[in-house]
Amino acid sequence: MEHYYSKEPTSKSDEKEIKYELNEKTFRFLVDNGVFSKERVDFASDLMLKALVTEEISGNVLDVGCGYGVFGIVLSSFFDINCKMIDINSRAIGLSEKNIKLNNCKKIKAVQSDSFENIKDDELFDVIVTNPPIRAGKKVIYDIYSQSYKHLKSGGCLYLVINNKHGAPSTKEFLTEMFGNCEILDKKAGFHVIKCVRERI
Ligand SMILES: C[S@@+](CC[C@H](N)C(=O)[O-])C[C@H]1O[C@@H](n2cnc3c(N)ncnc32)[C@H](O)[C@@H]1O
Repeated sequence: MEHYYSKEPTSKSDEKEIKYELNEKTFRFLVDNGVFSKERVDFASDLMLKALVTEEISGNVLDVGCGYGVFGIVLSSFFDINCKMIDINSRAIGLSEKNIKLNNCKKIKAVQSDSFENIKDDELFDVIVTNPPIRAGKKVIYDIYSQSYKHLKSGGCLYLVINNKHGAPSTKEFLTEMFGNCEILDKKAGFHVIKCVRERI
């Protein structure tokens, strides 16, 4: 059965364009069958983006589970960053590549990767962002959290969004244990936007 997290979606392609606005900037996204949130930018992703644009984001950014490229593309337009976007889904990566061009983004690339498998062991980031693939299961999302910790520079930040009913409390406990901190930047309709900092050593 096909899921939004299938490696190679088999549903018939039917690309269309949607628009997304944030702080008076308009973005254009090609979307398709077999990818996450193809009707509109997801409510939780929008909530997290509104919080992210109030943060100071710079350096090398990794978008884990990028879908059709929302976080990486929007952040690249608000901040001067180098961005890498990864997703397990080949169709999502194809759309991200088209959306990078459609939105005239520079210094950003999309790479197909199952979790961090195509990120080099010694590749470190200043910021990692994710709307984690809850439906892929706890093992996958907790692996993304642990790999994110390993791939953050000292002082680097992980941002994620998760709903109470999908385990926000246990996620916060796990992240607090790993990072030694866990801040809630915003909350709405059960969704929590979470920030953890890999403290300087
Ligand atoms: C909740 S969606 C978020 C998509 C996008 N960031 C957005 O905000 O619209 C999670 C994404 O994670 C991807 N994903 C699922 N399992 C994955 C894995 N093991 N490695 C990388 N990406 C994965 C899915 O294909 C999906 O695009």
